[in-house]
Amino acid sequence: MFKTKIILFLFISMFSTSIYAQQLGKDELKSMEKSNSAFKGGIKGVTGPGLNLPAEKMQWWEDAKFGMFIHWGLYAILATGEWTMFNQKIPAEEYAKLADQFHPKLFNADQWAAIAKTAGMKYMVMVARHHDGFAMWNSPSSYHHFNSMETAAHADFVAQYTAACRKAGLKVGIYYSPMDWRFPGYFDPKGQPENAALMKQQAYGQVEELMKNYGKVDILWYDGGWLSHKGTDADAAWFWEPLKLNTMVRQYQPDIVINPRSGMFGDFQVNEGSAEVKGPILNFPWEKCLNLNGASWGYNKAQHLMSRSSIIQMLVNVVDRGGNMLLNVGPDQDGIIPASHVLRLKEVGEWLNKNGKSIYGTRPGPFEPVDSLYGSTHKGNMIYIHLIKSSKVSLELDLPPISQQILSCRILADKKVKFQQGKNGVKLTIDTARLDPAVTTIALRIKE
Ligand code: GLC
Repeated sequence: MFKTKIILFLFISMFSTSIYAQQLGKDELKSMEKSNSAFKGGIKGVTGPGLNLPAEKMQWWEDAKFGMFIHWGLYAILATGEWTMFNQKIPAEEYAKLADQFHPKLFNADQWAAIAKTAGMKYMVMVARHHDGFAMWNSPSSYHHFNSMETAAHADFVAQYTAACRKAGLKVGIYYSPMDWRFPGYFDPKGQPENAALMKQQAYGQVEELMKNYGKVDILWYDGGWLSHKGTDADAAWFWEPLKLNTMVRQYQPDIVINPRSGMFGDFQVNEGSAEVKGPILNFPWEKCLNLNGASWGYNKAQHLMSRSSIIQMLVNVVDRGGNMLLNVGPDQDGIIPASHVLRLKEVGEWLNKNGKSIYGTRPGPFEPVDSLYGSTHKGNMIYIHLIKSSKVSLELDLPPISQQILSCRILADKKVKFQQGKNGVKLTIDTARLDPAVTTIALRIKE
């Protein structure tokens, strides 16, 4: 039993909820929910011998904790999110004309990487192709030559991006959507099997290009293995044959970390959206993906920017339960990440500069999290408590007992905290004048 007592307590909830989800298109929302229901209701997906990574090959990923997701494509021109083509029923031929206007002269992948590093992120995942079908690289397999090399941009953005990540020391992730709205067979795979087969052929060809032509890729982040916007990704495994697809992937990239959205059981599981993370530590690798601008993943003129506190609280809520956080930005049509987003990320980076010891390379526990109040991580002879709520005056925090002896206790890189350890638990008395409005880390040194 975890007994938690707060003596004087002033707290304004800063958690972002899924209010913006209500503004999403019906199928867009379904896309989010199908993955989350799989996450909550038991992990789904087909698997084959040797296709998933052994635990030791997942360690770097579990150490990394924080990454940048980037949704960037033709939809940035429309500035209403990456589902605009579908939501506004824009015919494929009409939508394709956007490629004539897409020549982002200001795009600079090194700048993206620099922004991610300043935010304290350790990896990036760039959307190479979303459901609209436009490939952001030199893609000979692209149906109707719908790619950035053979249209106005005349550029291979994936090449520039992968090079920039490596130069900056960031791990390289690629997002790829097998589904493609341009194919009527996607919506009717049984009625129009030949057209659906063309889409599948494109997916195999493009995944091979991405795995073969860009050096070592660390993460493959599929999205939309489902069919006709129905069921789950795993339900569509009969069509995509993800075991075959990923056997090919592993031939080029034996150590790549693969998410679950091809229908194959993932090396990690995905929890999507801005809802508060609650509950106990999860004993499998998982990742929370969400949007810095709650309006949509792709660039959106509407702005619902997460606050500094909500980002940091989300991060510790995730890390304290054994997850990673993949925070999305949507650059505009020129490839620029909006200045206000860059500033917000910098604030998170400043917090991580001070508190990063309690995040990177840690594992969750030993204390189970108490929702909206605290959670913990540990590494070596240190235990870190992330105190989420803050009080203006003073705070007593009761933690459950632990067998190791606590030698010292302090606010990370700051002053000492009074503690009493007994067989019934540990009591910390914290001077709340020093607390960070988002999350304060308390470091306990234990006897080894
Ligand atoms: C959802 C959205 C999609 C986005 C993805 C990121 O599936 O529908 O647009 O790319 O989430 O996780």
